[in-house]
Amino acid sequence: MRQDRTWPAPPAEIAAFHRRMPAYAPTLLLDAPRLATRLGVGRVLVKAETRRMSLPSFKILGASWATYQALLAHVGHDLEPWGNINELAAKLAYLKPFKLITATDGNHGRAVSFMARLLGFDAHIFVPIGMAPARIKAMEKEGAVVTVVDGDYDAAVARAAEDAGDSCLVISDTSWPGYETTPAQVIEGYTTIFHEIDDAIDASGLNHPDLVAIPMGVGAFMAAGITHCRSGEHSPIIVGVEPMDADCVQQSAQAGDIAHVPGPHKSIMVGLNCGRPSLIAWPRLSAGIDWFVAVDDDAARQAMRDLADAAVVAGETGGASLAGVTALLDDDDRRKELGIDSSSTILVIVTEGATDPAAYEQIVGKPHDSIGRVLTAIR
Ligand SMILES: Cc1ncc(COP(=O)(O)O)c(C=O)c1O
Repeated sequence: MRQDRTWPAPPAEIAAFHRRMPAYAPTLLLDAPRLATRLGVGRVLVKAETRRMSLPSFKILGASWATYQALLAHVGHDLEPWGNINELAAKLAYLKPFKLITATDGNHGRAVSFMARLLGFDAHIFVPIGMAPARIKAMEKEGAVVTVVDGDYDAAVARAAEDAGDSCLVISDTSWPGYETTPAQVIEGYTTIFHEIDDAIDASGLNHPDLVAIPMGVGAFMAAGITHCRSGEHSPIIVGVEPMDADCVQQSAQAGDIAHVPGPHKSIMVGLNCGRPSLIAWPRLSAGIDWFVAVDDDAARQAMRDLADAAVVAGETGGASLAGVTALLDDDDRRKELGIDSSSTILVIVTEGATDPAAYEQIVGKPHDSIGRVLTAIR
Protein backbone atom coordinates (compact mmCIF):
# COMPACT_ATOMS: atom_id res chain seq x y z
CA MET A 1 0.00 0.00 0.00
CA ARG A 2 1.51 3.35 -1.02
CA GLN A 3 1.71 5.99 1.67
CA ASP A 4 1.48 9.66 0.83
CA ARG A 5 3.38 11.17 3.75
CA THR A 6 6.22 13.55 3.07
CA TRP A 7 9.12 14.49 5.33
CA PRO A 8 11.12 17.72 5.56
CA ALA A 9 14.43 17.64 3.69
CA PRO A 10 17.52 17.58 5.97
CA PRO A 11 19.90 20.57 6.27
CA ALA A 12 21.67 21.53 3.05
CA GLU A 13 25.07 21.92 4.73
CA ILE A 14 25.51 18.14 5.14
CA ALA A 15 26.81 17.68 1.60
CA ALA A 16 29.23 20.58 2.06
CA PHE A 17 30.45 18.97 5.30
CA HIS A 18 31.06 15.63 3.56
CA ARG A 19 32.98 17.34 0.77
CA ARG A 20 35.53 18.46 3.37
CA MET A 21 36.10 14.88 4.54
CA PRO A 22 39.30 13.23 3.24
CA ALA A 23 38.93 11.31 -0.02
CA TYR A 24 35.27 12.25 -0.36
CA ALA A 25 33.83 11.54 -3.79
CA PRO A 26 30.36 10.41 -4.82
CA THR A 27 30.32 6.61 -5.02
CA LEU A 28 29.51 4.97 -8.34
CA LEU A 29 26.03 4.51 -9.71
CA LEU A 30 26.21 1.63 -12.16
CA ASP A 31 24.03 0.43 -14.98
CA ALA A 32 23.75 -3.36 -14.62
CA PRO A 33 22.18 -4.73 -17.84
CA ARG A 34 22.70 -8.39 -16.92
CA LEU A 35 20.81 -7.90 -13.70
CA ALA A 36 18.06 -6.12 -15.64
CA THR A 37 17.75 -9.13 -17.95
CA ARG A 38 17.75 -11.51 -14.98
CA LEU A 39 14.97 -9.52 -13.26
CA GLY A 40 13.00 -8.86 -16.46
CA VAL A 41 13.04 -5.08 -16.07
CA GLY A 42 14.21 -2.21 -18.25
CA ARG A 43 17.14 -1.10 -16.14
CA VAL A 44 18.85 -1.94 -12.87
CA LEU A 45 20.88 0.80 -11.28
CA VAL A 46 23.30 -0.21 -8.54
CA LYS A 47 24.54 2.37 -6.06
CA ALA A 48 27.78 0.82 -4.90
CA GLU A 49 28.73 1.83 -1.36
CA THR A 50 31.61 -0.58 -1.49
CA ARG A 51 34.35 2.03 -1.09
CA ARG A 52 33.39 5.23 0.64
CA MET A 53 36.16 7.56 1.86
CA SER A 54 38.49 4.52 1.88
CA LEU A 55 36.08 2.39 3.97
CA PRO A 56 34.04 -0.54 2.65
CA SER A 57 30.57 0.77 3.56
CA PHE A 58 28.35 3.86 3.59
CA LYS A 59 28.41 4.19 7.36
CA ILE A 60 31.04 6.91 7.53
CA LEU A 61 28.52 9.38 6.09
CA GLY A 62 26.35 9.11 9.20
CA ALA A 63 29.18 8.66 11.71
CA SER A 64 31.12 11.70 10.45
CA TRP A 65 28.19 14.13 10.40
CA ALA A 66 26.82 12.95 13.76
CA THR A 67 30.28 13.14 15.38
CA TYR A 68 30.74 16.68 14.09
CA GLN A 69 27.33 17.74 15.38
CA ALA A 70 27.92 16.05 18.75
CA LEU A 71 31.26 17.84 19.06
CA LEU A 72 29.65 21.18 18.22
CA ALA A 73 27.12 20.60 21.00
CA HIS A 74 29.88 19.42 23.38
CA VAL A 75 32.14 22.47 22.92
CA GLY A 76 29.16 24.82 22.76
CA HIS A 77 30.49 27.09 20.03
CA ASP A 78 30.90 27.21 16.29
CA LEU A 79 34.01 25.50 14.87
CA GLU A 80 34.07 27.30 11.53
CA PRO A 81 36.12 28.16 9.61
CA TRP A 82 37.94 24.93 8.77
CA GLY A 83 38.85 23.67 5.34
CA ASN A 84 39.83 20.09 5.99
CA ILE A 85 39.75 17.48 8.74
CA ASN A 86 43.27 18.33 9.96
CA GLU A 87 42.22 21.92 10.60
CA LEU A 88 39.14 20.68 12.44
CA ALA A 89 41.30 18.28 14.51
CA ALA A 90 43.65 21.12 15.44
CA LYS A 91 40.71 23.19 16.72
CA LEU A 92 39.58 20.29 18.89
CA ALA A 93 43.02 19.19 20.14
CA TYR A 94 42.50 20.92 23.50
CA LEU A 95 39.82 18.34 24.36
CA LYS A 96 42.30 15.47 24.46
CA PRO A 97 42.32 12.90 25.95
CA PHE A 98 38.89 12.42 24.41
CA LYS A 99 37.01 9.32 23.33
CA LEU A 100 34.29 8.28 20.91
CA ILE A 101 32.25 5.24 21.91
CA THR A 102 29.73 3.11 20.10
CA ALA A 103 28.25 -0.34 19.70
CA THR A 104 28.34 -2.00 16.34
CA ASP A 105 27.84 -5.10 14.32
CA GLY A 106 30.77 -3.98 12.20
CA ASN A 107 30.58 -1.08 9.82
CA HIS A 108 29.34 1.73 12.07
CA GLY A 109 32.04 0.94 14.63
CA ARG A 110 34.69 0.99 11.96
CA ALA A 111 33.40 4.35 10.76
CA VAL A 112 33.43 5.81 14.30
CA SER A 113 36.96 4.44 14.85
CA PHE A 114 38.06 6.04 11.57
CA MET A 115 36.53 9.37 12.59
CA ALA A 116 38.23 9.20 16.01
CA ARG A 117 41.58 8.55 14.36
CA LEU A 118 41.15 11.48 11.97
CA LEU A 119 40.41 13.77 14.91
CA GLY A 120 43.21 12.38 17.09
CA PHE A 121 40.77 10.93 19.63
CA ASP A 122 40.51 7.48 21.18
CA ALA A 123 37.76 5.03 20.24
CA HIS A 124 36.13 2.30 22.30
CA ILE A 125 33.82 -0.03 20.38
CA PHE A 126 31.50 -2.64 21.88
CA VAL A 127 30.62 -5.60 19.68
CA PRO A 128 28.34 -8.63 20.03
CA ILE A 129 29.83 -12.02 20.76
CA GLY A 130 30.76 -14.00 17.67
CA MET A 131 31.80 -11.09 15.44
CA ALA A 132 34.16 -12.17 12.64
CA PRO A 133 37.82 -11.53 13.60
CA ALA A 134 38.36 -9.65 10.31
CA ARG A 135 35.77 -7.05 11.35
CA ILE A 136 37.30 -6.64 14.81
CA LYS A 137 40.79 -6.34 13.33
CA ALA A 138 39.61 -3.62 10.96
CA MET A 139 38.52 -1.48 13.91
CA GLU A 140 41.69 -2.19 15.85
CA LYS A 141 43.67 -1.14 12.80
CA GLU A 142 41.99 2.26 13.08
CA GLY A 143 43.34 2.42 16.63
CA ALA A 144 40.13 1.46 18.46
CA VAL A 145 39.88 -0.61 21.62
CA VAL A 146 37.29 -3.31 20.91
CA THR A 147 35.35 -5.00 23.72
CA VAL A 148 33.33 -8.13 22.96
CA VAL A 149 30.09 -8.10 24.95
CA ASP A 150 28.60 -11.40 26.10
CA GLY A 151 25.38 -10.95 24.15
CA ASP A 152 23.88 -9.73 20.89
CA TYR A 153 23.91 -6.32 19.20
CA ASP A 154 21.26 -4.96 21.57
CA ALA A 155 23.42 -5.98 24.54
CA ALA A 156 26.40 -4.19 22.98
CA VAL A 157 24.27 -1.05 22.52
CA ALA A 158 23.22 -1.14 26.18
CA ARG A 159 26.85 -1.57 27.30
CA ALA A 160 28.12 1.33 25.15
CA ALA A 161 25.43 3.65 26.50
CA GLU A 162 26.80 3.22 30.06
CA ASP A 163 30.09 4.94 29.25
CA ALA A 164 28.99 8.45 28.20
CA GLY A 165 30.86 11.13 30.14
CA ASP A 166 32.60 14.52 30.09
CA SER A 167 35.50 13.38 27.93
CA CYS A 168 33.62 10.77 26.03
CA LEU A 169 30.83 10.92 23.42
CA VAL A 170 28.55 8.03 22.49
CA ILE A 171 28.01 8.10 18.72
CA SER A 172 25.30 5.50 18.24
CA ASP A 173 23.38 4.87 15.04
CA THR A 174 20.41 3.56 16.97
CA SER A 175 18.35 5.41 19.55
CA TRP A 176 16.51 4.82 22.81
CA PRO A 177 14.47 7.00 25.14
CA GLY A 178 16.60 10.02 26.07
CA TYR A 179 19.21 9.39 23.36
CA GLU A 180 17.82 10.70 20.12
CA THR A 181 19.82 13.66 18.80
CA THR A 182 22.94 11.86 17.60
CA PRO A 183 21.05 8.97 15.91
CA ALA A 184 18.89 11.56 14.14
CA GLN A 185 22.07 13.19 12.84
CA VAL A 186 23.40 9.80 11.70
CA ILE A 187 20.25 9.51 9.58
CA GLU A 188 20.78 13.02 8.21
CA GLY A 189 24.33 12.10 7.22
CA TYR A 190 23.14 9.14 5.16
CA THR A 191 20.99 11.38 2.94
CA THR A 192 24.11 12.40 0.98
CA ILE A 193 23.84 9.01 -0.77
CA PHE A 194 20.40 9.81 -2.12
CA HIS A 195 21.47 13.27 -3.30
CA GLU A 196 24.36 11.68 -5.17
CA ILE A 197 21.97 9.22 -6.82
CA ASP A 198 19.64 12.02 -7.94
CA ASP A 199 22.56 14.08 -9.24
CA ALA A 200 23.95 11.15 -11.25
CA ILE A 201 20.54 10.30 -12.72
CA ASP A 202 19.77 13.93 -13.58
CA ALA A 203 23.18 14.38 -15.20
CA SER A 204 22.74 11.24 -17.31
CA GLY A 205 19.15 11.89 -18.36
CA LEU A 206 18.04 8.40 -17.24
CA ASN A 207 14.67 7.72 -15.64
CA HIS A 208 14.41 7.98 -11.90
CA PRO A 209 13.74 4.58 -10.30
CA ASP A 210 10.25 3.13 -10.04
CA LEU A 211 11.36 0.99 -7.12
CA VAL A 212 14.21 1.29 -4.65
CA ALA A 213 15.42 -1.55 -2.39
CA ILE A 214 17.09 -0.67 0.91
CA PRO A 215 18.48 -3.07 3.55
CA MET A 216 17.36 -2.60 7.16
CA GLY A 217 19.06 -3.29 10.46
CA VAL A 218 17.74 -0.77 13.00
CA GLY A 219 16.24 1.15 10.06
CA ALA A 220 18.33 4.33 10.28
CA PHE A 221 19.50 4.04 6.69
CA MET A 222 15.97 3.32 5.54
CA ALA A 223 14.77 6.41 7.43
CA ALA A 224 17.23 8.47 5.38
CA GLY A 225 15.90 6.89 2.19
CA ILE A 226 12.32 7.63 3.18
CA THR A 227 13.17 11.22 4.11
CA HIS A 228 14.73 11.74 0.72
CA CYS A 229 12.33 9.79 -1.46
CA ARG A 230 9.27 11.28 0.21
CA SER A 231 10.46 14.89 0.21
CA GLY A 232 11.28 15.26 -3.48
CA GLU A 233 9.35 15.12 -6.72
CA HIS A 234 10.15 11.45 -7.43
CA SER A 235 8.48 8.95 -5.14
CA PRO A 236 9.48 5.37 -5.94
CA ILE A 237 8.06 2.23 -4.37
CA ILE A 238 10.23 1.68 -1.28
CA VAL A 239 11.15 -1.90 -0.44
CA GLY A 240 12.77 -2.71 2.92
CA VAL A 241 14.85 -5.89 3.11
CA GLU A 242 15.75 -7.78 6.30
CA PRO A 243 17.16 -11.20 7.26
CA MET A 244 14.47 -13.76 8.08
CA ASP A 245 15.35 -14.14 11.74
CA ALA A 246 15.97 -10.43 12.37
CA ASP A 247 12.99 -8.86 10.60
CA CYS A 248 12.31 -6.44 13.42
CA VAL A 249 11.03 -3.60 11.21
CA GLN A 250 8.53 -5.84 9.47
CA GLN A 251 7.42 -7.37 12.78
CA SER A 252 7.03 -3.90 14.25
CA ALA A 253 4.97 -2.73 11.27
CA GLN A 254 2.68 -5.72 11.69
CA ALA A 255 2.35 -5.07 15.42
CA GLY A 256 1.74 -1.34 14.86
CA ASP A 257 4.50 -0.44 17.33
CA ILE A 258 8.17 -1.14 17.96
CA ALA A 259 8.54 -4.88 18.48
CA HIS A 260 11.51 -6.89 19.71
CA VAL A 261 12.69 -9.90 17.73
CA PRO A 262 14.88 -11.77 20.20
CA GLY A 263 18.30 -13.08 19.18
CA PRO A 264 20.63 -14.67 18.74
CA HIS A 265 20.48 -13.33 15.18
CA LYS A 266 22.72 -15.53 13.12
CA SER A 267 22.39 -14.24 9.57
CA ILE A 268 25.55 -13.77 7.53
CA MET A 269 24.07 -10.32 6.75
CA VAL A 270 25.60 -9.18 10.04
CA GLY A 271 24.88 -5.48 9.52
CA LEU A 272 21.19 -6.34 9.60
CA ASN A 273 21.25 -8.55 12.71
CA CYS A 274 19.25 -6.18 14.89
CA GLY A 275 16.35 -7.06 17.16
CA ARG A 276 14.67 -3.68 17.51
CA PRO A 277 14.12 -0.71 15.16
CA SER A 278 15.63 2.63 16.13
CA LEU A 279 13.18 4.74 18.14
CA ILE A 280 13.97 7.87 16.16
CA ALA A 281 13.59 6.07 12.83
CA TRP A 282 10.32 4.39 13.73
CA PRO A 283 7.80 7.13 12.75
CA ARG A 284 9.29 7.20 9.27
CA LEU A 285 9.63 3.41 9.02
CA SER A 286 6.04 2.85 10.09
CA ALA A 287 4.66 5.24 7.48
CA GLY A 288 7.13 5.25 4.63
CA ILE A 289 7.87 1.66 3.55
CA ASP A 290 5.70 0.18 0.82
CA TRP A 291 6.92 -3.44 0.88
CA PHE A 292 8.82 -5.60 3.34
CA VAL A 293 10.88 -8.59 2.27
CA ALA A 294 12.71 -11.05 4.53
CA VAL A 295 15.47 -13.09 2.88
CA ASP A 296 17.60 -16.02 3.98
CA ASP A 297 21.34 -16.39 3.79
CA ASP A 298 21.25 -18.46 0.60
CA ALA A 299 19.48 -15.59 -1.14
CA ALA A 300 22.16 -13.18 0.13
CA ARG A 301 24.93 -15.48 -1.15
CA GLN A 302 23.29 -15.75 -4.58
CA ALA A 303 22.92 -11.96 -4.72
CA MET A 304 26.64 -11.58 -3.95
CA ARG A 305 27.43 -13.87 -6.88
CA ASP A 306 25.00 -12.05 -9.19
CA LEU A 307 26.53 -8.72 -8.22
CA ALA A 308 30.05 -10.08 -8.79
CA ASP A 309 28.86 -11.02 -12.25
CA ALA A 310 27.86 -7.38 -12.70
CA ALA A 311 31.35 -6.31 -11.54
CA VAL A 312 30.15 -5.16 -8.09
CA VAL A 313 31.92 -6.49 -4.99
CA ALA A 314 29.13 -6.83 -2.42
CA GLY A 315 29.65 -8.25 1.05
CA GLU A 316 27.00 -10.38 2.72
CA THR A 317 24.96 -7.40 3.95
CA GLY A 318 25.65 -5.62 0.67
CA GLY A 319 23.84 -8.39 -1.20
CA ALA A 320 20.62 -8.02 0.78
CA SER A 321 18.81 -5.45 -1.37
CA LEU A 322 19.31 -7.42 -4.58
CA ALA A 323 18.22 -10.58 -2.75
CA GLY A 324 15.04 -8.81 -1.68
CA VAL A 325 14.22 -7.43 -5.12
CA THR A 326 14.87 -10.82 -6.69
CA ALA A 327 12.52 -12.55 -4.25
CA LEU A 328 9.83 -9.97 -4.94
CA LEU A 329 10.09 -9.88 -8.72
CA ASP A 330 10.41 -13.65 -9.15
CA ASP A 331 6.87 -13.85 -7.83
CA ASP A 332 4.52 -13.04 -10.74
CA ASP A 333 1.63 -11.96 -8.54
CA ARG A 334 3.84 -9.55 -6.59
CA ARG A 335 5.34 -8.20 -9.79
CA LYS A 336 1.86 -7.45 -11.09
CA GLU A 337 0.77 -5.88 -7.84
CA LEU A 338 3.86 -3.68 -7.89
CA GLY A 339 3.26 -2.67 -11.50
CA ILE A 340 6.86 -3.57 -12.39
CA ASP A 341 7.43 -4.63 -16.00
CA SER A 342 10.06 -4.69 -18.72
CA SER A 343 10.14 -0.90 -18.87
CA SER A 344 10.72 -0.32 -15.15
CA THR A 345 13.87 1.03 -13.51
CA ILE A 346 15.00 -0.59 -10.26
CA LEU A 347 17.52 0.91 -7.87
CA VAL A 348 19.48 -1.48 -5.70
CA ILE A 349 21.66 -0.03 -2.96
CA VAL A 350 24.68 -2.18 -2.18
CA THR A 351 25.69 -0.92 1.23
CA GLU A 352 29.01 -2.70 1.74
CA GLY A 353 31.93 -4.27 -0.05
CA ALA A 354 33.96 -7.29 1.06
CA THR A 355 34.15 -6.55 4.79
CA ASP A 356 35.28 -10.14 5.42
CA PRO A 357 37.49 -10.99 2.40
CA ALA A 358 37.96 -14.68 3.32
CA ALA A 359 34.19 -15.23 3.62
CA TYR A 360 33.69 -13.32 0.35
CA GLU A 361 36.06 -15.63 -1.52
CA GLN A 362 34.38 -18.69 -0.09
CA ILE A 363 30.91 -17.52 -1.17
CA VAL A 364 31.68 -16.00 -4.56
CA GLY A 365 34.42 -18.42 -5.52
CA LYS A 366 37.00 -15.73 -6.30
CA PRO A 367 38.88 -13.11 -4.32
CA HIS A 368 37.16 -9.73 -4.08
CA ASP A 369 40.08 -7.98 -5.77
CA SER A 370 39.71 -10.17 -8.86
CA ILE A 371 36.18 -8.95 -9.66
CA GLY A 372 36.01 -7.25 -13.06
CA ARG A 373 36.30 -3.57 -13.73
CA VAL A 374 33.21 -1.43 -14.04
CA LEU A 375 32.62 -0.15 -17.53
CA THR A 376 29.16 1.34 -17.17
CA ALA A 377 29.40 3.97 -14.45
CA ILE A 378 26.81 6.70 -14.73
CA ARG A 379 28.22 10.16 -14.15
C1 LIG B 1 26.46 -2.60 5.34
C2 LIG B 1 25.23 -2.24 6.06
N1 LIG B 1 24.09 -2.10 5.37
C3 LIG B 1 22.94 -1.77 5.96
C4 LIG B 1 22.90 -1.56 7.33
C5 LIG B 1 21.59 -1.24 7.96
O1 LIG B 1 21.54 0.05 8.46
P1 LIG B 1 20.53 0.39 9.62
O2 LIG B 1 21.00 -0.33 10.84
O3 LIG B 1 20.58 1.85 9.74
O4 LIG B 1 19.20 -0.11 9.19
C6 LIG B 1 24.06 -1.69 8.10
C7 LIG B 1 24.06 -1.46 9.54
O5 LIG B 1 25.02 -1.64 10.23
C8 LIG B 1 25.26 -2.04 7.44
O6 LIG B 1 26.42 -2.19 8.12
